[in-house]
Amino acid sequence: MRGKRPIFVMHRGCREMNPFRLIPRRLKRRMFRYTPAGFPDPASCGAFYDARSTLFSGDDMMALEYSGTDAQRHLFERATSLLPPGGRILDLGCGLGHLLIYLDEKGLSYESYHGIDVSPRMVTEASRRFEGKTCASFEVRDILTEPLAPGSFDTGYILSVLGYPIGDDPVATMMEIIERTFSACREGIVLSHLAPGRKEGLKFTTVPEELGARCEEELGAKAQIDDDGVAFTYLLALRH
Ligand SMILES: C[S@@+](CC[C@H](N)C(=O)[O-])C[C@H]1O[C@@H](n2cnc3c(N)ncnc32)[C@H](O)[C@@H]1O
Repeated sequence: MRGKRPIFVMHRGCREMNPFRLIPRRLKRRMFRYTPAGFPDPASCGAFYDARSTLFSGDDMMALEYSGTDAQRHLFERATSLLPPGGRILDLGCGLGHLLIYLDEKGLSYESYHGIDVSPRMVTEASRRFEGKTCASFEVRDILTEPLAPGSFDTGYILSVLGYPIGDDPVATMMEIIERTFSACREGIVLSHLAPGRKEGLKFTTVPEELGARCEEELGAKAQIDDDGVAFTYLLALRH
């Protein structure tokens, strides 16, 4: 085709050609500026993150809705300081498994790591990245419909996962996710959530002290809050 440039150049051995990746990043950011008000169920939330991971490649933090790598690592640092990882780790809503990279880089020891996510694309990509790492595994699972066995892990993390309202009663759905993760982890868990009145446009927030008190009352957990009163994200450690 003399004079005409091909749109795609397919190289031999190229595993997958994703035309969405050719859309300029500026345009992709605009496309994803308007996020959904909520989801009817966790599977729909997984479909939303599938779409994001189709559009944004590699370690582009737009796929995971972080402002950047620093914000993600700062959250991991706070979470692992609050509840040091150990034994069998559960990472609920693991995304691309960045927590595992962080643990290894920091030399934080653990016996095994298991990442669970409702987004099949996230799990496929994370499994590909950690292929050959025998102590790590990933799984597509909705723990609301397929619960985990009590005490099957030691420490658990739910980081940047609970930011959208899910179902008709979002607080009840969130409490069920927290309860099931907490019961699956012998020592305890850390979760992050969003505080009201600190940033415009947040879809789902709870007052830190109220969520902590509710977890103590309903789950019998010992709650510890990490909140500076300014940042919109706070952390809550729940111990048995
Ligand atoms: C913002 S990303 C955070 C990923 C990872 N925790 C991190 O900090 O890099 C949120 C992830 O949680 C997953 N997710 C949301 N709700 C979930 C649920 N109920 N169960 C499992 N995964 C969930 C999404 O599919 C998405 O991959």
